[in-house]
Amino acid sequence: MTAPLMLGDHVVNPPVVLAPMAGITNVAFRRLCREQGGGVYVCEMITTRALVERIPKTLKMIAFAEDEGFRSLQLYGVDPDVTAAAVRMIGEDGLADHVDLNFGCPVPKVTRRGGGSALPWRRRLFGRIVSQAVAAAKPYGIPLTIKMRKGIDDDHLTYVEAGLAAQEAGVAAVALHARTAEQRYSGKADWDAIATLKQALDVPVLGNGDIWEGSDALRMVEHTGVDGVVVGRGCLGRPWLFADLEAAFTRGAGYRPVLPSLGEVAKIMSRHAELLVDALGDEKHGCADFRKHVAWYLKGFPVGSDLRRRLAMISSLAELDDLLALLDPALPFPADALGQPRGRVNAPGKVSLPYGWLDSRDDESVPEGAETDESGG
Ligand SMILES: Cc1cc2nc3c(=O)[nH]c(=O)nc-3n(C[C@H](O)[C@H](O)[C@H](O)COP(=O)(O)O)c2cc1C
Repeated sequence: MTAPLMLGDHVVNPPVVLAPMAGITNVAFRRLCREQGGGVYVCEMITTRALVERIPKTLKMIAFAEDEGFRSLQLYGVDPDVTAAAVRMIGEDGLADHVDLNFGCPVPKVTRRGGGSALPWRRRLFGRIVSQAVAAAKPYGIPLTIKMRKGIDDDHLTYVEAGLAAQEAGVAAVALHARTAEQRYSGKADWDAIATLKQALDVPVLGNGDIWEGSDALRMVEHTGVDGVVVGRGCLGRPWLFADLEAAFTRGAGYRPVLPSLGEVAKIMSRHAELLVDALGDEKHGCADFRKHVAWYLKGFPVGSDLRRRLAMISSLAELDDLLALLDPALPFPADALGQPRGRVNAPGKVSLPYGWLDSRDDESVPEGAETDESGG
């Protein structure tokens, strides 16, 4: 990379973005990751309609720590006017410093109604959403970016056309999760597609898909020429991946990977649970939310099934610390767990679409009932 990654006036160094992940990238997880390294840390997806209607649960999800210097928020919208109103509200109320639009969600409930990864196919509607959002963000100096997939399936690719349209509309950057909606999270991300997009655009391009280690990020940059990387599942149970990424971008290919011992992992687990309790307001909810992370943290470590099970059922921080004390702190990080997929790896599936969707690319009408809280990308 020759120039630093810029999102509007903001320098992103290292050029790393924590991908928005519903149910994961709340204020607690972002803080845990931020403690490890630099980058942009995107919050959980917020639905535009829920935001403009000021639904209390949605407003509560927009929580940023006081020291979160560049507050990054992802919106999901299908209606240009509602999306623009949501962006205006973010600007007026000072809710965030960066807005990303989600065009990658492959969940059937969403695509069946024409939302998420189905939407860029309707090129005029897509163009209107993005340009109205950019125009709404402009007076507040908020950089607006989009995150999309390659297209619906291999016969209905949209990423180059959508990237060019977004650039024309004035976005600050374009991120590509290099899978089709049909692939969901299966198979390998197509880094060649990221290279193609990078060649086609002048605005910064962010590559996303299958970065499990800092070395993968360097490989992606080398293979595609991208300006930055977006990292999702690789940091599940591995927030130190951001330290690894920072080391990789600072020192280059010969960098020393960050490989915590089980004792160090246990400390991070304890910290994560504590932050969740703090963020969710009480021990019961914080500990319940933490449970889903346990298997990711322990992946590959020789820890017995009984202890794993008990850890995944904790209901207090004291119980967690008692159980963590039973782990052997000296155990080294398991080499077998490196480079391995974690989190969602589901099989491909035919994309549900509204009737006649593929035959009406230029229809600008807003799909009905596609506003949703379902998320993914
Ligand atoms: C649990 C989970 C939740 C996700 N939620 C969102 C979301 O709300 N918005 C979005 O754009 N992508 C979402 N994604 C997709 C990720 O941002 C990312 O694009 C995808 O996981 C591919 O990157 P990776 O290979 O680094 O994981 C989600 C992924 C996972 C695993």
